[in-house]
Amino acid sequence: MSLALGIETSCDETACAIVRDGWEVLSSLVWTQHALHEEFGGVVPEIASRAHVERIYDVAAKSCNAAAVPISHVSVVTVGNRPGLIGSLVVGVSFAKSVAWALNKPLKGVDHVRAHLIAPFLKNPEETPTDWRNESPAVGLVVSGGHTSIYEWISPDRAHEIGRTIDDAVGEAYDKVGAMLGLPHPAGPALDLLAQQGDPTAHDFPVSRLDKHSLDFSFSGLKTAALYAIRGLPAPGGHFARDHTALSPGQKADIAASFQRAASRAVILKLERALDSHAKNARSILVGGGVSANSRLREELLDLGRRKGVRVHLPRMDFCVDNAAMIASQGWWEWQAGGEDGLSLRARPTISMPARAQ
Ligand code: KG4
Ligand code: ZN
Repeated sequence: MSLALGIETSCDETACAIVRDGWEVLSSLVWTQHALHEEFGGVVPEIASRAHVERIYDVAAKSCNAAAVPISHVSVVTVGNRPGLIGSLVVGVSFAKSVAWALNKPLKGVDHVRAHLIAPFLKNPEETPTDWRNESPAVGLVVSGGHTSIYEWISPDRAHEIGRTIDDAVGEAYDKVGAMLGLPHPAGPALDLLAQQGDPTAHDFPVSRLDKHSLDFSFSGLKTAALYAIRGLPAPGGHFARDHTALSPGQKADIAASFQRAASRAVILKLERALDSHAKNARSILVGGGVSANSRLREELLDLGRRKGVRVHLPRMDFCVDNAAMIASQGWWEWQAGGEDGLSLRARPTISMPARAQ
């Protein structure tokens, strides 16, 4: 039996988890800062890093208590050290270094985006584990607030990005369109609920295809189409005559549902292309990131899996959004494969997936 301590502070969630043998989640605590950022309509980096400093110790202590594990029993300390807001990452990395140094345990830095793809394998101890080896090769899909990418996924330490967004991430589009509809930040979950009361065919919003073999995404056209549906066409000079307060609840729900349909179709289209081209031998689809909590996308992914004859692994709802259990799991597998970082580990704000396959 081997335990990993996971620490995650890349954006606006302070999280800590204890995971056994790479998949059994003994505890996973997430303290979300949404309330601190809400009045600004987005994450304020300075507020985020200060809040991490104030909370990290408590969250870690509570996570050890919840797992009923003395921290000295941990085999490896893992931390999301890339990508993210630099001031936020530095807090988690410094804390993880202190713990690793004090306990004299190995330290492993983890790529946050890649960790989202291990989230579907996280289970409670009483559940039956899914061995990732039986699911490889897989197509990985990360749909979050900061990233929208497709990967060829071989193992926890081997994945190649084969498609990515050329502008907004899908979660960012959800958040911006939700804000235009007057929903609180982050607007994805509220837009999902609102969409369930609307007609998804009310507006024929564009689904970006790019060139016919492209596995890349683009959400800026969809976002602009939603803007015009909400506020009308701009007058010369760029001024809009109205905002969301001019719309009835039914009109808002129709826009939300139509947006959600187009956003989901754009994701499914590229995933289907990936399965037909790059990943013909894929046995499964692994999905992660906050938007994998979206009700319509989950249904469409399961439907795609049935049509293509591949298994679809979706994370449990609490493991879709940022959490430290995915960091502990990803870090543990990488550590098992022979990777270890010293106390010189640095926080890195930019992404570092292996070079993109052509
Ligand atoms: O993975 P995550 O927690 O953070 C990043 O790594 O970016 O993803 C957060 C994103 C936000 O944009 C949020 O609005 C979106 O996930 N999100 C959703 C839903 N739940 C969270 N978007 C659509 N539908 C949802 N149910
Ligand atoms: Zn994330």
